[in-house]
Amino acid sequence: MAAIDVVIMAAGKGTRMKSSMPKVLHRLGGRALVQHVIDSARQLSARHIIAITGHGADQVEAALAGQAGLRFARQMPQLGTGHAVQQAMPVLGDDGVTLVLSGDVPLTQVPTLQALLQASQGTQLALLTLQTPHPTGYGRIVRSAEGQVQAIVEEKDATPEQRAITEIYSGIMAVPTHLLRTWLARLDNRNAQQEYYLTDVVKFARADGQPVAAHLITEAAEVAGVNNPVQLAELERAYQARQARELMLQGVRLADPARFDVRGVLSCGQDVEIDVNCVFEGAVSLGDGVRVGANCVLANAQIQAGAVIHPFTHIDGEGAGVSIGRDARVGPFARLRPGAVLGDEVHIGNFVEVKNSTLAKAAKANHLAYLGDATVGERVNYGAGSITANYDGVNKHRTVIEADVHVGSNSVLVAPVTIGEGGTIGGGSTITKDTPKGALTVARGKQTSIANWQRPQKK
Ligand code: UD1
Ligand code: MG
Repeated sequence: MAAIDVVIMAAGKGTRMKSSMPKVLHRLGGRALVQHVIDSARQLSARHIIAITGHGADQVEAALAGQAGLRFARQMPQLGTGHAVQQAMPVLGDDGVTLVLSGDVPLTQVPTLQALLQASQGTQLALLTLQTPHPTGYGRIVRSAEGQVQAIVEEKDATPEQRAITEIYSGIMAVPTHLLRTWLARLDNRNAQQEYYLTDVVKFARADGQPVAAHLITEAAEVAGVNNPVQLAELERAYQARQARELMLQGVRLADPARFDVRGVLSCGQDVEIDVNCVFEGAVSLGDGVRVGANCVLANAQIQAGAVIHPFTHIDGEGAGVSIGRDARVGPFARLRPGAVLGDEVHIGNFVEVKNSTLAKAAKANHLAYLGDATVGERVNYGAGSITANYDGVNKHRTVIEADVHVGSNSVLVAPVTIGEGGTIGGGSTITKDTPKGALTVARGKQTSIANWQRPQKK
């Protein structure tokens, strides 16, 4: 098989998105549209991947910078799809086969592209086509009486008879590069849109007596393009439905696949249950038997077997990650931020925020608390309303709470400070100095009572 070079057309304006952001950078499943296309190309082990940029080229190239094997060719001005592909020709080797993809068609399956390449055999032009009851707007596939593909006719150039054709061109083709080179050199723009149409290569192939293969599919989502926010939302649901189905077939129990969003990569063990309206971002892994309640947002987190995430919990491990040990309980209404590392059987309850802190096995913070830049020992009980004052206005400092400490409610632990092992902090204390092991430490105004106190009277 000939080497595969992929050309991704991404220079168009995307006027109908009505957005200041170039169309191909709009996100689907948390990834830019064009990134989906690049990722598919990678799975084909492409030799070169060349993205054609034009409108918003600086933005598009910056967003995609630093990806191995990805190159850019600029198309200025944009004179049509044929003109777009012409910009890539200097980098393409004549020994290869060129696969042309569109940056705004994100859901083409890799096996479909492989089948198209198979149809081309590296020796002939092959088109990916779709049979559809809704051909409006697309290029129509004109076949001879014998069924041989003769031409692609754009909607705007089509006769009424041609418009009635229900087989359309997807915008995706595979073509031996040496043939593509000769055909692109023959393009002109004498058509309704005064553009250099890539689709005219079909005409030239036939004129040269070359066969044209078509790989016909019927799943519209595979070749659906994004032109406006309505289509973007439709494809988002199609993409999410695909992911939900794959996970369910692996055994994951989703309360409702229609209310489930993965904007990254979610990997799950056995007997995982996910309730409605959960969003997963970045890389999230859920161990065996993990349960996630309704309305949780989980990003960049590793959750070990048996842990339960109660409803309305927000976990965001962007950067440093979040990890949660076996059989831990988190939420409802908990917030775990980057660097939260919870050991086995840790309990984090409602309105508790944890950032850049390690909690050892079976430590608990059950209500209304803040742990930031803290190291918390085993079995610590961290009372309601307590906080680590970790920031002095300039620098962050650490709080160490050793094993078996009880921190009473409404305490302020002013870092840097260490609470000695087994100690108790009386409720309402503001702790500014290290406390001894095993001691009760109280740091607050003493309670006094004035007998028979007369409240002031109105005159
Ligand atoms: C194209 C096909 C049409 C097909 C349809 C499938 C041609 C002439 N027509 O039409 O047969 O049914 O796709 O969706 O190819 N682009 C550039 N530079 C340009 C023009 C376009 O990079 O100068 C890019 C666009 O950003 C887009 C892709 O090429 O990613 C397709 O361009 P678009 O204008 O949407 O082509 P269609 O009119 O949809
Ligand atoms: Mg289009």
